[in-house]
Amino acid sequence: MRKPFVAGNWKMNKTIEQARVLIADMVPGLQAIPEVERVICPPFTSLLAVSAMLAGTEIGLGAQNMFWENSGAYTGEISPGMVAELCKYVILGHSERRTYFGEKDVTVNRKVKAALANAVIPIVCVGETLAENEAGQTAAVVTRQIKEGLQGLEPAQAPTLVIAYEPVWAIGTGRAATAEGANQVIAAYVRKPLAELYGEVAAQAVRVLYGGSVTAANAAEFFRQPDIDGALVGGASLKTPDFTAIVQAAVG
Ligand code: 13P
Repeated sequence: MRKPFVAGNWKMNKTIEQARVLIADMVPGLQAIPEVERVICPPFTSLLAVSAMLAGTEIGLGAQNMFWENSGAYTGEISPGMVAELCKYVILGHSERRTYFGEKDVTVNRKVKAALANAVIPIVCVGETLAENEAGQTAAVVTRQIKEGLQGLEPAQAPTLVIAYEPVWAIGTGRAATAEGANQVIAAYVRKPLAELYGEVAAQAVRVLYGGSVTAANAAEFFRQPDIDGALVGGASLKTPDFTAIVQAAVG
């Protein structure tokens, strides 16, 4: 019932020209896998070029961040309306934004509301750090990120969300979570608090992804889990064979 969803987060990689080369390389293979919702999230500077190349395909485009205000004196920021001109999706609350740019659940919440108000679908990232994991705080941290980051939405908006559980210790480390472990966290600390906020039907409709060192070799194991609907892929999304194989693995 939940369509599989795989997004590539390019992070701060690729110039416009490099993005064009990678997209040209990647699109034919991705086009052949319509069973999966496929999304590419390049840096802001490449969004226009990539959106032109994706026109006429069913591959979605996402931004990696945005501000919550509609316009004004916010030097260096990008508004929800600007994102909406080009993108169907926006990644919000990524752990790198939380770690390096001071994002908090309260600011993630403002951004989620602003995205939805502009008909942009948020891909909301949650996940505990290594220290939090070792201190046994995974349950508390992920539950709080869901409850505070997603509170106050219109009930009808909740089912459209995409959530990515990305344990911070698994990102870019080559040390992915176990598929069973990730599934348990998603069931107990993502879907359950979502059900408390918006009801069981909405909590079962939301696509929840796993992220953190997903590769062509380990993706299928995650996708076999009942509560994992896809992946948010970093490093492996920059390589056509790897990303295509991950999307293919999501077909099931
Ligand atoms: P890696 O796949 O490189 O571990 O990155 C995961 C991630 O942060 C995706 O948003």
